[in-house]
Amino acid sequence: MRAAVIPGVGQEWEVREVPTPRPGPGQVLIRVRASGVCHNDVLTWRGVLPFPMGDPAVTGHEPVGEVADVGPGVRDLKVGDRVGTTWVQAGCGTCDYCALGLPVTGQTGLNCAAPVMTGFTVPGGHAEYVVAAAEATVPIPDTLPDELAAPMMCAGYTAWSALIAAAPQEGERVAVLGIGGVGHLAVQFAKACGLETVAVTRSAHKHDLVRELGADAVVGSGAELLAAGGADVVLVTGSSYTAATDCLPALRPNGRMVLAGIDTAGSFTIPPSLARPFFAQRQQVIGATHNGLDLLRTALDLAASGQVRPRVQTFAASEVATAVDRVARGEALFRAVVTF
Ligand SMILES: NC(=O)c1ccc[n+]([C@@H]2O[C@H](COP(=O)([O-])OP(=O)(O)OC[C@H]3O[C@@H](n4cnc5c(N)ncnc54)[C@H](OP(=O)(O)O)[C@@H]3O)[C@@H](O)[C@H]2O)c1
Ligand SMILES: [Zn+2]
Ligand SMILES: [Zn+2]
Repeated sequence: MRAAVIPGVGQEWEVREVPTPRPGPGQVLIRVRASGVCHNDVLTWRGVLPFPMGDPAVTGHEPVGEVADVGPGVRDLKVGDRVGTTWVQAGCGTCDYCALGLPVTGQTGLNCAAPVMTGFTVPGGHAEYVVAAAEATVPIPDTLPDELAAPMMCAGYTAWSALIAAAPQEGERVAVLGIGGVGHLAVQFAKACGLETVAVTRSAHKHDLVRELGADAVVGSGAELLAAGGADVVLVTGSSYTAATDCLPALRPNGRMVLAGIDTAGSFTIPPSLARPFFAQRQQVIGATHNGLDLLRTALDLAASGQVRPRVQTFAASEVATAVDRVARGEALFRAVVTF
């Protein structure tokens, strides 16, 4: 099969012929049709996140396609079913974290001693075929095309999980900070819930686009967000904790700041000022990641209904290096999707 291989840390991606995997017990083989490029693919490529364990290294954790083969013991899926899978397929089942008996989530991936992680510990979805645990797949709604379903596997799943983590109430105002793959979906999810939504982006060229996505207002900084009345919820969907810190003064009393973005260099800081101190605002800072496949199913349903529509730029497999470069430069509007 053809796969998008990363020859080594920082080296240009290339399409190579590699052996087609076979599904083991409880697994399915997916013929990948579309595979989204997440910012975390870039972090992996740069060696900031752990480099994929496989040889050759194939990343990608937003694959969508149809079941091409089923392994022993798989009862609920059959050849031809349209499915997708996500970043964390399973825990090891034996470590202290797994002994807690929690559902498989993004938390499992970074706490389990030996998690099964698509594109990290097992080969990923930037390939013609990928193997996944049947239990870690979700059905793709009939009306949702592959290239629009793929971004939901991580970006949409993250955005929806972050919004739900904030438990927004009717009449509250949500700000979404950082309008990339995750952020442009977070804006739409918040609007789909009927919430007033403000986008915070440092990119002037995105202002009109974000309004088209439904944002009620667009601002460029925390100071501008404060001047515009602040927000009850700030969803940090960009990759800068400095930018999150900049928005903290704009968080209203009882507000929730949800850190879903990953900043591997900067820190989130609560300033020492006693003018409007964090403790007296009774605010919360919440970490968020993929929080269970039921949330992903809901996110897919919202996309299938048209209330949320990923904006994608599609690339043929032969253009995968260009797609990744576009994402690395922050130039993808808003999700690059590779078709296989
Ligand atoms: N929690 C999870 O489970 C999870 C899952 C997937 C991804 N992530 C993380 O979520 C973040 C977004 O991922 P993505 O795939 O949506 O990435 P993306 O498409 O590259 O978007 C990232 C956005 O962050 C903002 N940004 C980038 N550099 C910045 C800087 N120096 N200062 C301020 N803002 C900056 C930009 O938004 P503007 O142009 O609008 O300012 C950019 O569009 C990443 O940090 C990623 O690692 C987390
Ligand atoms: Zn991702
Ligand atoms: Zn474990």
